[in-house]
Amino acid sequence: MKFHQTILTATILSVLFNSCGNKTNVTSPSSDIEVKVTLNENGNVKWQLNAYGNPIIAPSSTGLEAKETNLSDGFEIIDTQTNSQDEVWTQPWGENKTIRDNHKELAVKMENKEGVKLTLRIKAFDDGVGFRYEYETGLDSLTITAEKTGFEFASDGMSWSIPANFETYELPVREQSISKTENANTPFTFCIGSIYGSIHEAALYDFPEMNLYSDDSLSFRSELAPMPQGFKARVPGKFNTPWRSVQIAESAVGLINSSLILNLNEPCKIKDTSWIQPQKYVGVWWGMHLGTHSWTCDSRHGATTENAIRHIDFAAANNIDGVLFEGWNEGWETWGGRQHFDYCKAYPDFDIEKIAAYAKEKGVELWMHNETGGSIYEYEAALDKAFSMYENLGVHTVKTGYAGGMPGNIRHHSQRGIQHYQKVVEAAAAHKLMIDAHEPIKETGIRRTWPNMMTREGARGMEWNAWSDGNSAEYLCQIPFVRLLSGPMDYTPGVFDIYYKTASEYKTRKEWNGDYSKTFIKTTLARQIANWVLLYSPLQMACDLIENYEGHPAFQFFRDFDADCDWSKALAGEIGDYIVIARRSGDKFFLGAGTNDQARTIDICLDFLEPGKTYAAAIYADDTNAPVISQPDGTKSADKTAYRIINKTVTSTDSLTIEMAQYGGQAISFIPAE
Ligand code: NOJ
Ligand code: CA
Repeated sequence: MKFHQTILTATILSVLFNSCGNKTNVTSPSSDIEVKVTLNENGNVKWQLNAYGNPIIAPSSTGLEAKETNLSDGFEIIDTQTNSQDEVWTQPWGENKTIRDNHKELAVKMENKEGVKLTLRIKAFDDGVGFRYEYETGLDSLTITAEKTGFEFASDGMSWSIPANFETYELPVREQSISKTENANTPFTFCIGSIYGSIHEAALYDFPEMNLYSDDSLSFRSELAPMPQGFKARVPGKFNTPWRSVQIAESAVGLINSSLILNLNEPCKIKDTSWIQPQKYVGVWWGMHLGTHSWTCDSRHGATTENAIRHIDFAAANNIDGVLFEGWNEGWETWGGRQHFDYCKAYPDFDIEKIAAYAKEKGVELWMHNETGGSIYEYEAALDKAFSMYENLGVHTVKTGYAGGMPGNIRHHSQRGIQHYQKVVEAAAAHKLMIDAHEPIKETGIRRTWPNMMTREGARGMEWNAWSDGNSAEYLCQIPFVRLLSGPMDYTPGVFDIYYKTASEYKTRKEWNGDYSKTFIKTTLARQIANWVLLYSPLQMACDLIENYEGHPAFQFFRDFDADCDWSKALAGEIGDYIVIARRSGDKFFLGAGTNDQARTIDICLDFLEPGKTYAAAIYADDTNAPVISQPDGTKSADKTAYRIINKTVTSTDSLTIEMAQYGGQAISFIPAE
């Protein structure tokens, strides 16, 4: 296998344009995937999708509805144009730095009696399809009231999704038949027969997000997040919608190995991307969720100068790039309602100048945290001043947060919410800042165009293990096939103190007003290490209290790990059951494997390693003979913190047998032998 790390410009392999009368279907380059278009008696265009000779989506309606004119009916096809493109492009970071965009395109050009011109642009790739509406109405602006895009499944199958919701994605994933699903957010992953697919959207800008609602068992339609006034969006008279996308694969892991969403986005708009760098980070964070620390400036305050210096020293000593401090700025006492955060003023016990200077001296990236509680107007007003201040302090990374309702009943995922999230990304780019957004808008591949939009939460992350019944081991085997298909996630993995032994005050977590004394993580320690590989994020956190890593032999994996990645491949897995992913960073490889609540053994062939090279493999494995102990919930089972480190010399012709305990996993680093 040869890798070309430094292809800086896209390599155009071929582009062909054609005007071809009334062609109304487009097949992917391999011809395995086909979209057909037909016009019904009302002049509404129907789209349908076949994959590998099987109908997946039966003829389904298209278009939008607006107050001012008819955007969906009465159309006649004026012309159709085809285009095919095969190019290779690169990105500054990502699961894969080099991506091939090989697709065929069909543009169906239509017009109706109202003089509305509509181009339905369809791109067919071998890993799925995307289509969007391009309208020219001759009007100044439009009020969009509904979307009519339908997804009529041709037959029933299994599906994995979170419920529809315009405020949050922090919901458990449901595995249920397509026909039992009443509504869902996207990615909506499904399996019909032996074909896997996932419905999502790409390049979501200045438009509400799409959810899916079922009209009857197999018939879904797009439902857009509304504005407080009831309409869905205000758009100019000439506009393009985001892409509606359906990934297709012949295996579950094929979905993970797809670049469809990125290929449906525009090239990078940031000229100099040298400041955009993946990072490993630690932070003053987990303690607040456990209750040992507080965001507010009181006796438990986490973000103190002393604690900051301790974290910077730890990062410098352990090959960790960055440090996050939550609760550094004034306003946390007001969080949870009508909060007012000051994004520039540090609490008196957080000497920001001194901390920034010390971080610089130690070569550690200082992160800033901006919790807004949803107060987007205040944050927008503060952006320029705050981002200028951070830039002057030498900061390159900002974690944002929207834990709380937006003012005036604005939904997080509405057009206004999306405008806000994008405003922050662009303001950040102007100040050379990377963004890690919590309570974000879902990723739709905009990281290709705005690669400073590094990672985001947008699902139940680690925090839920501190103050709820937690995330199941099954969930951790579902999200790589659902949420992570949209892009990176800041799950914040890496708790080594699974039983929260060092969080002595955890029974009285004041912030969360609950008894979480029986809470623990459904994981083994080895699985926490594997999650650094499995849950891709270019900003990857070791989230535990740093004292829980001190002197811990298993932490060597994180020291060796690289959050920057050149190549990735999901090697094996079934949704909700298990998952195995390998990644390459420079000349090192990393492998992560994880299972659900079933112990499991899998053989993995190492043919992804570079042939002819010898690697020192450090295997971080579950101890399958771990002693049985009492768990915090009163049950007895194997000690989840027990693990073994096995060192081996391997080559690409070897195979390894991966043994995983219940909730467990395995992580392996492959470092070229001298
Ligand atoms: C929720 C975020 O997900 C979490 O990471 C953060 O610590 C809190 N909000 C406070 O900002
Ligand atoms: Ca959150």
